[in-house]
Amino acid sequence: MIMTELIEKKKNGERLTREEIDAIIDGYCKNGIPDYQMSALLMAICFRGMTEEETFHLTESMLNSGKTLDLSSISGIKCDKHSTGGVGDKTSLALCPLVASLGVKVAKMSGRGLGFTGGTLDKLESIPGMRVNLSPSEFFETVKKVGMAIVGQSAELVPADKKLYALRDVTSTVDSIPLIASSIMSKKLASGSDCILLDVKYGKGAFMPTKEKAEELAKEMVRIGTHFGKDTRAEITSMEQPLGLAIGNILEVQEAIDTLHGKGPKDFVDLLLESGTTMLLQAKLYEDAKKARKAIEANLENGKAFHVFMEFVKAQGGDVSYIENPEKFPKAIYAFPIKSLKSGYVKSIDAMDLGLISMELGAGREKKEDVIDPTAGIVLEKKVGDVVNKGDLLMTLYTERANKRDLVSRALGDFEFSDAETSPLPVIEESIRMEGDAFIIEKD
Ligand code: URA
Repeated sequence: MIMTELIEKKKNGERLTREEIDAIIDGYCKNGIPDYQMSALLMAICFRGMTEEETFHLTESMLNSGKTLDLSSISGIKCDKHSTGGVGDKTSLALCPLVASLGVKVAKMSGRGLGFTGGTLDKLESIPGMRVNLSPSEFFETVKKVGMAIVGQSAELVPADKKLYALRDVTSTVDSIPLIASSIMSKKLASGSDCILLDVKYGKGAFMPTKEKAEELAKEMVRIGTHFGKDTRAEITSMEQPLGLAIGNILEVQEAIDTLHGKGPKDFVDLLLESGTTMLLQAKLYEDAKKARKAIEANLENGKAFHVFMEFVKAQGGDVSYIENPEKFPKAIYAFPIKSLKSGYVKSIDAMDLGLISMELGAGREKKEDVIDPTAGIVLEKKVGDVVNKGDLLMTLYTERANKRDLVSRALGDFEFSDAETSPLPVIEESIRMEGDAFIIEKD
């Protein structure tokens, strides 16, 4: 195989064969293909795209670059979920125990936050003692005993993605649908679950800027998962404003705990009910969506999902006294309350900028090496559709960094008001799955 010929082929919009794609991924992983040639190929893919077949082959080659998890020793149907990431997205913290409390097995690998979005591992590690680096046997035992476990992505799974993603990051070749879809799905397939639920977010605070782009990515990922024999479904969800009220690690854990006590913010609860219902159907624990939803609603209220969360924290070494009494979590030294200078209805909230502000307050990482302050973040008091009177509290910024008071006026500018009444924003816009070769798209 001559790499320049393959680059030339893709540059001219021709298809790469399975053998060629295998040779490229294998060659790149073994350092036989230099970064400059791989970069040229990635850029050609960005401009020329890939066919469905090529994307399947790329996913398979990446999947075969490392180990895969065999979860067959865990009884029951294993269901994984993945979110493309957003601001205030603490869904895994509440959704995994919720579905596990009804018999779904969740053996989940998660990532850390970078930039304006947070990561599940960082949120979990804000619980004193919590370990996300379980050994494989501890991971399996925890899922068997508790019904769920969440650990960091193993470096042994899909090493090709690690290497390729690092290159894409510095060569402006991240935003290609086949490259994103194969990257995410190779990792999900390697994690070994029977079913996969994808939360593809769009909007100001998301990776995908528009609903159309999110739908395109979602379809590609559902197509890949289905091709590999997994029940794969996607939800297109709005990130036009932060999810829930809390942004930041401890703050989001506290909100997840409140939610598991039946006291969550409406948009977050709506997402949990919808995603939880879908996962129960995927796991074939229910055939009827209405009955599945009732079961999900019940376990959010009756303490059973909270109980699984407690067991999960305990099994992974976390100090459950913080979960029993969330007031015990440390608080940031500085709290900057922000009051409205206007009356009106909240028209929009700039999720991306609040995510960036939260990062500057200490809740996120600008660079991979940055250390997170678990107490930092933002708690919103108002969301789109709410009425606001001049002087009402809009949000509070929390930080250990004394010099961040200047972020107050910037955060204030992230709220836009209207004199006319506005409506709350829906969270889930569409659900996508496949039947045969056809996509079934249900709009909410
Ligand atoms: N997340 C991933 O895991 N891969 C991508 O390519 C983009 C986002």
